[in-house]
Amino acid sequence: MAKDSQTISSLTEETLNAEDNLTAVSFDVNGRSVTLSLDPRVTLLDALREHLHLTGTKKGCDHGQCGACTVLVDGMRINSCLTFAVMHDGQAVTTIEGLAKGDELHPVQAAFLEHDAFQCGYCTPGQIMSAVALLSEPVQHTEDAIRENMSGNICRCGAYVNIVRAVREALANGSLTA
Ligand code: FES
Ligand code: FES
Repeated sequence: MAKDSQTISSLTEETLNAEDNLTAVSFDVNGRSVTLSLDPRVTLLDALREHLHLTGTKKGCDHGQCGACTVLVDGMRINSCLTFAVMHDGQAVTTIEGLAKGDELHPVQAAFLEHDAFQCGYCTPGQIMSAVALLSEPVQHTEDAIRENMSGNICRCGAYVNIVRAVREALANGSLTA
């Protein structure tokens, strides 16, 4: 019993210490100013999904291998599982939820629909965010170049042919809005 009390007491102490270590982070998420108190070890991906409930950004591998967690930070694409949320204080984060304007899809979203560029859809938010960033990057519009520049986004369903078609069309249309 004494041992249990000691365990509970030390757990409470750990919890209090963890709360002491929370760090405030303020950033713009999809055009909305947000301030969170986070353990500095919380990844940007977990801050988005667990704290802001923006679950469109997917957790695939959680190790920087699949691209499912791709978001834009100040317009640049990153794997949100590989970076701590507190590192992005003052920056602008765009997730898949921030692309459409009301009922009007972003051109890349529309291209993915038109070309049926998904199957299960799990990789799709990351694919789309990567493709949106690609519109602002110096990339040739060839199939090879698109495949190379989208190679950080893995699709376990193998929908690559249609993904490349969708991205190619978006590039051709020069849709430069992120
Ligand atoms: Fe981030 Fe796979 S979940 S790269
Ligand atoms: Fe299923 Fe890409 S559509 S993982």
